[in-house]
Amino acid sequence: MQAPFEAVADIDELSPGEMKKIHAGGRRLLLCNAEGDYYAVDEMCSHEDYSLYLGCIQGRKIKCSLHGSYFDLASGAPLVEPADEPIRTYPVKLSAGRVWVDPS
Ligand code: FES
Repeated sequence: MQAPFEAVADIDELSPGEMKKIHAGGRRLLLCNAEGDYYAVDEMCSHEDYSLYLGCIQGRKIKCSLHGSYFDLASGAPLVEPADEPIRTYPVKLSAGRVWVDPS
């Protein structure tokens, strides 16, 4: 059975360094364009309940603007304290001019 990918954006919708809030599978996620590649991650920081959408993308990392933690967009791993738990990441694929995310 095919994974439940959902179309969440047009393929050229975001420029490098931009992100967009998306809803997929009942989850609040962020779709991020980092250096031309798309990543999907949980919207909320793992440190406190704060939206990473208020932060920024630097290279292939996302920074939380509340306390300054960075997360690797590919793995979700925390790179800078105070966060010490990863954020969840989700598979992304490009097809038919759209960006698809598997939120399962
Ligand atoms: S809420 Fe994100 S680092 Fe503290």
